[in-house]
Amino acid sequence: MAIGLDDDALTRARFDTLQARIRKAPENFLDAGMILEVGRGRRDVLRGAFVAALAALGGSARAVAEEAKPAGEDAILKLPPWSTSLGRPVAATPYGMPSKYETAMLRRQSPGLTQVAASSVSFMPLQGMFGIITPSGLHFERHHQGWQEIDPSQHRLMVHGSSDEFVRKAKVYTLDDLMRIPSVSRMHFIECGANTGMEWGNVAVPTVQYTHGMLSCSEFTGVPLRTLLEDCGVDLKKAKFVLAEGADGSSMTRTIPIELVTSGEAIVAYGQNGEMLRPENGYPLRLVVPGVQGVSWVKWLRRIKVGDQPWATKDEAVHYMDLMPDGQHRQYTSIQECKSVITSPSGGQTLLDKGSYNVTGLAWSGRGKISRVDVSFDGGVNWVGAQLQTPVLPKCLTRFNVGWIWDGGPALLQSRAMDETGFVQPGYRQLRDVRGVRSIYHNNAIQSWKVSESGEVGNVQIL
Ligand code: MTE
Repeated sequence: MAIGLDDDALTRARFDTLQARIRKAPENFLDAGMILEVGRGRRDVLRGAFVAALAALGGSARAVAEEAKPAGEDAILKLPPWSTSLGRPVAATPYGMPSKYETAMLRRQSPGLTQVAASSVSFMPLQGMFGIITPSGLHFERHHQGWQEIDPSQHRLMVHGSSDEFVRKAKVYTLDDLMRIPSVSRMHFIECGANTGMEWGNVAVPTVQYTHGMLSCSEFTGVPLRTLLEDCGVDLKKAKFVLAEGADGSSMTRTIPIELVTSGEAIVAYGQNGEMLRPENGYPLRLVVPGVQGVSWVKWLRRIKVGDQPWATKDEAVHYMDLMPDGQHRQYTSIQECKSVITSPSGGQTLLDKGSYNVTGLAWSGRGKISRVDVSFDGGVNWVGAQLQTPVLPKCLTRFNVGWIWDGGPALLQSRAMDETGFVQPGYRQLRDVRGVRSIYHNNAIQSWKVSESGEVGNVQIL
């Protein structure tokens, strides 16, 4: 994966910055007169209503009303076309789409990453999202060999063993077979091990979409893998690992420790956010391995093999491992450690005025629940506790919020998460002390956003 920004990349980055700015400032969509009204309190609204009543009296009262008219009142007094015409009928769009005004909420390809044939990444726009669930159409994508439209009636999943001693009766399942087995639905985050990878090189890509957008969170529905292993008569005392293989051209294969299966956590999923998986995300079957790096969530799942040793396949011997300071590669570092990021205000956005802001973001840990998030406005000198928004679930995104009054001066915004095991998200110095500077994967360092006096927010690293 090559890292670096070229000219085209910078142009794209500027475009994306503009998009983010528009998203942060929805009032830009309104008439100029109304912009002045944004941010005014309830009293102004009441005053508007009062003036409207006066206007209805006509004559001198109208003149008084004109005199007292606050800027932007016209817009509230006028009846827009959507209040005076028939709306569109039901099912005009049998599958609902976002408003045409929501043009900035798009997956984007990072200008800084080299695309090799169909091997590529699209990042999820977390700067504009609310709550914790990623709409399926915005779920990030990472394909090693592109994605396919698989015919579900043709798709099969085989469960077998390295030898007969592990699996008594190997089986091949159709999707229909799997959907007849009692299912579970669980909310979990998925994060690519390469998320925030460019920051290792201090590239400082412009927006949170590019720093942290290889992350998503969905409700997944399917069958616990344990159920299938039991159905095939797997000896769970002898089995130590399973190998999962995808049906795409990359034949993605990953070794999963058996504990993640026997715990009942790993799911063979066909559902995502109440509907079938999207083709880009593994339709019709994918493995869900909560807390573990995204590469192990094998998409278009076609085979599960049971054995007692890791397989060290090409996908495990070349990437998604950590080059340590002593030159050794650390393999099978699968758990995504505790991490958080402020999503708004964030890089590429602009604060329009002094005053109060909701500083919001996401926290997650591959080891369980988030127990607290602290936020700093001065680069880590002082910290305040943020509010964790419910639900707070294990191995799931957690939304945090904290109020902030921006005084118009420079500020450095950071968030620091802690999980239920007591693990505290490290700063860059702490992380580099252990991991050195040559990694690409597993960067969970504290992210810093610099707010300048002009209100522009940019990506900086604080050591
Ligand atoms: N599974 C297959 N079969 N092929 C792939 O290329 N990419 C992996 C994983 N599973 C991949 C795969 C990687 S590296 C990641 S991060 C996640 O899928 C991304 O899942 P998503 O595209 O649904 O976000």
